[in-house]
Amino acid sequence: MTDIVIFVGTESGNAQMVAEALNDELGRFDHGVEIIEEFDDGLDVLEGHEMVIIACSTHGLGELPDNIIPLIDAMNEAKPDLSHMKYGVIALGDQTYSDTFCKAGKDVDAIFTACGAKRVGDRLEIDACTQPLPDEEAIDWAKEWLSLL
Ligand SMILES: Cc1cc2nc3c(=O)[nH]c(=O)nc-3n(C[C@H](O)[C@H](O)[C@H](O)COP(=O)(O)O)c2cc1C
Repeated sequence: MTDIVIFVGTESGNAQMVAEALNDELGRFDHGVEIIEEFDDGLDVLEGHEMVIIACSTHGLGELPDNIIPLIDAMNEAKPDLSHMKYGVIALGDQTYSDTFCKAGKDVDAIFTACGAKRVGDRLEIDACTQPLPDEEAIDWAKEWLSLL
């Protein structure tokens, strides 16, 4: 019955699709799930959440999706205390971009840790080149993540 929020960083919808698949799956286990993909209010979105999954793709050459930049910029600037928070990261990328594979997801992971949040489990990195069904890989990861909470 844990309330879980999923923050989505996406340009073309794959991370959103992953979040919606997790919503369905976690809901089957009676977890309350909220998906958030608008971060124009900066740090406000962090308030009141103790279990967070961030599903974030990489664009450009290792850049964050535009929609999640306000949150990450605000976190880098203010370094809010997130020591009450547990989180997991699903990074979407493409290994064709070998120098910047999943870099945005890695950067998101680093800033949550820098703010004192505790990562649960390993970061999942989904390669669009070899994984045509990112939602299935994410669901398997989420089941494991839940068992580690
Ligand atoms: C223009 C463009 C640039 C990309 N740059 C990167 C990159 O630097 N590193 C990476 O791992 N993936 C990169 N990707 C791959 C995306 O992260 C991948 O396709 C992902 O599934 C997109 O998710 P989204 O639809 O949620 O944005 C890029 C994709 C596009 C179209």
